[in-house]
Amino acid sequence: MNAKKSGAVRIAILFSGRGSNMQTLANHIADPQVNAEFVLAITNRPAAGGIDICEKLDVPCRVIDHKKYDSRAAFDAELDAALRAAKVDLICCAGFMRLLTADFVNGWPDRLLNIHPSLLPKYKGLRTHQRALDAGDKTHGCSVHYMRPEMDDGPVVVQKTVPVRDGDTPDSLAARVIEQEHIAYPEALDMVLKKMADN
Ligand code: GAR
Repeated sequence: MNAKKSGAVRIAILFSGRGSNMQTLANHIADPQVNAEFVLAITNRPAAGGIDICEKLDVPCRVIDHKKYDSRAAFDAELDAALRAAKVDLICCAGFMRLLTADFVNGWPDRLLNIHPSLLPKYKGLRTHQRALDAGDKTHGCSVHYMRPEMDDGPVVVQKTVPVRDGDTPDSLAARVIEQEHIAYPEALDMVLKKMADN
């Protein structure tokens, strides 16, 4: 599944929950045409569902429990050390629900991607589906973006939109958005890999 590819971009995926975006990225990276290798997963939550996915994929998964660190800087320093020890080239946040310090983010210029369940710059932060419904939006969606020190900020690589339907709930809308997330992230990854190869 996680075949070694020589000269491939070494990718780490950070997650906090069930890991469906991580699974989708892993499936994509497994394609021999994709010049990337999924070398490390890191979660900040010891009970995250995505840990089982890593076991099945046979990808090393580090649990770095943020509750064991007394500051964001200390947690981020450990994260940074793990990523550098694994010689990671590109980090994909996939449902990683921790704010990262500016020092950490600035240490990975254009090497840090995130997926967010809204059409950024709308609805940074949490409860994005509820907020889109409350605002009466007719369209909603997701964004893959390069990360910058401000939360959910940075140049957008790919956005996908979905219709908001009468009677939608946050859950029904989330289900429509996550389908698009699973299309958007592999597409964005291809674009970023191409850009890295061209530079
Ligand atoms: C996804 O909807 C992702 O966009 C969101 O968490 C979910 C993770 O699902 N991320 C954020 O809200 C980040 N601000 P997954 O664990 O199944 O990939």
